[in-house]
Amino acid sequence: MSNLKGKHILSVNQFDAGMIKQIFHVADQMAPYAHRKKRTRVLDGAILGNLFFEPSTRTRVSFGTAFNLLGGHVRETAGMANSALSKGESLYDTARVLSSYSDVVAMRHPDSGSVAEFAEGSRVPVINGGDGANEHPTQALLDLYTIEKELHSHGDKIDGMHIAMIGDLKYGRTVHSLSKLLSLYKNIRFTLIAPKELAMPASVMDIIDKAGHQFTIREKLEGNLDADICYQTRIQEERFSSQQEANLYRGKFRLNQQIYTQHFQSKTVIMHPLPRDSRADANELDNDLNLNPNLAIFRQADNGVLVRMALFALTLGVENIISDYDCPVQWYSRKGEQ
Ligand code: CP
Repeated sequence: MSNLKGKHILSVNQFDAGMIKQIFHVADQMAPYAHRKKRTRVLDGAILGNLFFEPSTRTRVSFGTAFNLLGGHVRETAGMANSALSKGESLYDTARVLSSYSDVVAMRHPDSGSVAEFAEGSRVPVINGGDGANEHPTQALLDLYTIEKELHSHGDKIDGMHIAMIGDLKYGRTVHSLSKLLSLYKNIRFTLIAPKELAMPASVMDIIDKAGHQFTIREKLEGNLDADICYQTRIQEERFSSQQEANLYRGKFRLNQQIYTQHFQSKTVIMHPLPRDSRADANELDNDLNLNPNLAIFRQADNGVLVRMALFALTLGVENIISDYDCPVQWYSRKGEQ
């Protein structure tokens, strides 16, 4: 039986190696559904409360898509201004009410710890879709799933890999959650490239250190890096005290084909949680990398659907009966050609 049945998913700290293996095994089973080769009604009648109090494209839509692909129904609220939270309602009261309308809740909120606070009032499992600068556990799982797949395609594995993390490592919650998950693996080398004002928080460094991993800290990208993974991030300008402060770092960590060729191996996998800031003065991941086969950013986003389907299946306890509710796909779909 799943250790996740009926549980909240609030932090990567709750996972061990066995749970990760189980989540990835279930995610693998989801590919035919995500690729529209078949469909399932296993969650027909179930309702996801998809509550996003901070902007999102991928996480919000992929949670909804994942639930729909399992046959479930989605009710959404998007934006703080459209919610009674803006009238002073507490997270606890909101949770008590909305959890009676839903079988599971996915939630994003700008404040660290807010999703855990909501979960205290919820009568159904709550999945953290990002709480301030704190954590983004489902992104970390899909990042790890992607790293495993990409390295496997090169005949490599996560144990012993070298990952370079670049950009805003202070406010970038995805690198916090991913670094914590990587503490479950062995002998990883981290190269952490950020201005000292945007360095990885000490609490995360402590976890990397205690796991026995090696780390190198740099303030800029220089020299040859034999990294297996280059994990680029966006400057999280919404978390700075002023736009003026955020502007100090805009465009400082660009990656384009020429910079990639100069500093990385020809097989280094390029990742980014997205959105990438494509405005000319930021441009942290140039469009000229779009045809580079090592650019994994869209495979990474696609994997988000598989991983989120797996999490819904596991928290709702249907992971072993999904195919009992299979039915054919009636419509033409190019996704079925994958
Ligand atoms: N990666 C990620 O969290 O993207 P969104 O902000 O679009 O959800």
